[in-house]
Amino acid sequence: LKNSALLLGALVSISLLGTTYIVNSNKASYSPSTNKLMIPELIDTKQNRATELVIQEGRHEFFSGVPSETKGVNGDYLGPTIKLYQGKSTQVTFTNDLNEATTIHGHGLHVDGRWDGGPQNVIMPGKSITYSYEIIQQAGTSWYHPHLMGKTAEQVHAGVAGFIIIEDDNSDSLDVPSRYGVDDIPIVVQDRSFVNGVMRNYSVSMEQIMEGLKEETLVVNGQISPYYDVPSGWIRLRLLNGSNARYHSYTLENGDSFWKIATDGGFLESPVEMTSLVMAPGERNEILVNMVNTASNRVLVEFLEDEQSLLSFFKNDHQVALELRVDDSIEPHLTVADVLNVIEDIDRNQVSVERNFVLEMGEVEVEGLVSSHNHHSMFSINGRSMDMNTINHSSKKGQYELWRISGQEMRHPFHMHGTSFLIVSQNGAPPNEADRGWKDTVDVNEGITEVVLKFDVTASKEYPFMYHCHILEHEDAGMMGQFTVE
Ligand code: C2O
Ligand code: CU
Ligand code: CU
Repeated sequence: LKNSALLLGALVSISLLGTTYIVNSNKASYSPSTNKLMIPELIDTKQNRATELVIQEGRHEFFSGVPSETKGVNGDYLGPTIKLYQGKSTQVTFTNDLNEATTIHGHGLHVDGRWDGGPQNVIMPGKSITYSYEIIQQAGTSWYHPHLMGKTAEQVHAGVAGFIIIEDDNSDSLDVPSRYGVDDIPIVVQDRSFVNGVMRNYSVSMEQIMEGLKEETLVVNGQISPYYDVPSGWIRLRLLNGSNARYHSYTLENGDSFWKIATDGGFLESPVEMTSLVMAPGERNEILVNMVNTASNRVLVEFLEDEQSLLSFFKNDHQVALELRVDDSIEPHLTVADVLNVIEDIDRNQVSVERNFVLEMGEVEVEGLVSSHNHHSMFSINGRSMDMNTINHSSKKGQYELWRISGQEMRHPFHMHGTSFLIVSQNGAPPNEADRGWKDTVDVNEGITEVVLKFDVTASKEYPFMYHCHILEHEDAGMMGQFTVE
């Protein structure tokens, strides 16, 4: 299957300027539009109480001189980084300049359902919506993206996404690199397909809905294999797996260790040394890379295939995500704290409610008798597909809950809105050190994943919170539910 797919797809691996990337091309080769990593503009809300963002159509050059039709926020593809502060409230206005409806969800934010930007918070074309981001949570890396019912995958794929960075007193005083765009670098990694240098627009077959859309070219901050000049010393990368469906495995080319310092919702208690890091769609991790004894290093990404994958069309070579080049003229950050955070221990006795979630997929009928009008009902949680008019359960603010989640057929990144959780166990085992941090998205398989959590904000029937699979094709197809927090 793999061989014939390779022949059919005419995939060519091209080496250019020392960077390897794959383009689907039957003509000439294309060069990346610019090799230098683009750092999203920073909107620091420290001084401002209000900020405005515009969701718009764009033409973005992934490859030089070859524009692709994209969507972005205040730009052609992706959007600015919004920096928010614990204890502070900021009004963020999103204006929809697209000719279709959208929503903007703050993934990872602990804010009231009215400001969550879920499927109910629709922004019609030409309209604006203002959210009050009252930040009560700790420092961490969150992100924003559309969440329109049935359209999330397509709009995220087009480029609507950006970082939200939260700072607090701890992160302000902590000895970690924190100069945005200097030694604190946001990296969103996605996969896209290109035909003659032009990004393939979103469309999925039934098989791709089952599998999730998996494309072949690695895209980093909207670029192909960029480089970045960094100081010697410690570099902090805020990694976001912004793919619709692909799992990423990160390594350094020279095989060096790196240190994970934060999960989705905040710092770990102390840095954890590792040589490879797997990230599911929607997850964030912050890592520190030591550039003291090296002139350059490359961050590599391998796309992981699910073992039970139905289709594996693409050869999974490592691709170069980013080349870090040391520039000695930039002042280095040479030390790092060894205690980063204190993470509370939630005792099982504190838990007053337990809930079970089983993520389910239907079977593909090989005889081809699956009618397209009913395929959506094949994706569900606890036997129910997402229905905007049904509240699936209701939680209480301040109450500890244990959620027991398991999947079917393949791995699914389970995400919930409105709070962060701690992993208690996965397949019967406690989490390893690197996963003992606050999270809002967790990779689940057929075994049971237990997480504990509590909500500190509310969500009404009108603007409930979601839980769903973050393989966006699964989410759009109905592997989602909604709940209130009273
Ligand atoms: Cu990142 Cu409900 O989403
Ligand atoms: Cu979310
Ligand atoms: Cu899924």
